[in-house]
Amino acid sequence: MAETILVTGGAGYIGSVVVAQLLARGYDAVVFDDLSHGHRAALSPSAKLIVGNIADRAALDRVLVQFEPRAVMHFAAFIEAGESMRHPETFFRNNTANTLTLLEALLAHNVNRFVFSSTAALYGTPKKTPIEETALLQPTNAYGESKLLAEQMLDWLHRIHGLRYAWLRYFNAAGATGEQGEDHHPESHLIPIALQVALGQRKEVAIFGADYPTPDGTCVRDYIHVSDLAAAHLLVLEALKEKEKLTYNLGNGRGFSVREVIETVRKVTGHAIPARESPPRPGDPAVLVASSEKIRRELAWKPQYADLESIVRSAWGWRKAHPNGYASRS
Ligand code: UFG
Repeated sequence: MAETILVTGGAGYIGSVVVAQLLARGYDAVVFDDLSHGHRAALSPSAKLIVGNIADRAALDRVLVQFEPRAVMHFAAFIEAGESMRHPETFFRNNTANTLTLLEALLAHNVNRFVFSSTAALYGTPKKTPIEETALLQPTNAYGESKLLAEQMLDWLHRIHGLRYAWLRYFNAAGATGEQGEDHHPESHLIPIALQVALGQRKEVAIFGADYPTPDGTCVRDYIHVSDLAAAHLLVLEALKEKEKLTYNLGNGRGFSVREVIETVRKVTGHAIPARESPPRPGDPAVLVASSEKIRRELAWKPQYADLESIVRSAWGWRKAHPNGYASRS
């Protein structure tokens, strides 16, 4: 019988790609998503969608009784680091407190494998680049702190109740598959914003800070294709049958500045992409570049999209086909 995996936030950008890969591999995927940020249209009809919020313990209990999942992948969270510096309390409520509600429900129903969407934002301003998993954890924004607290709760539940977990610390997810792409409202991420400029939906890109201690003064990030990110989830899901706890960074190991990303979008789209220097966004670290050697070595994870241009090209393909995101009629 196919194994059932519960995917919270499975209608979101990364979750929906993971769901597609789970289904393609023969798992049953049950998506639990309140559709506040996710999209029904991001899911194939063979995924079961239960509309609900992880703060709702009774709804979680019902899903766990009905579907008896063997493992949970937890994507449901707020993700905007900039926003977390304006409303930190909503991040601690949703990302930390509501994760505890979910974990309590899992313990009550004896689900003992948990794959957690964590983040590079845990590392704050790292002393050494590329960042290894053993680096100090010192978030510079409330978003990173809300995820760090959740990681720590998980470790205590592991030690005391034997819950198995994987912490997957994502760097900058980007790109699209044929079916799923990035569609946030409002959009805050650099690549989709630049693509909206290319489509004439925005006038320009604001460059948040041009005075960082980086070669061209703008922030450097490690962009990883969403399919490669998703593939790592399936690897750790299986690895947790043997291992008790896993911690992995997920990135490409190469950093690109904001200006370099915009330049790549110009090349891929053929559009001039006007850009204007603007004040920095509070809480943004200057450089976040991953060492993902550990997951490559231990689980033979190999990203298929190693270069930024092919990542941007895939995002552009999806955007052109869905100029208004999932609301587009294609
Ligand atoms: N940026 C701009 N202009 C924009 C949007 C972004 O200059 O209009 C800059 C940001 O300041 C940052 C870089 O482009 O330096 C990338 O910004 P994104 O908003 O695309 O992504 P973030 O790095 O802020 O955050 C993303 C996820 C987080 C995750 C982090 C990990 O949203 O959840 O990557 O590196 F934690």
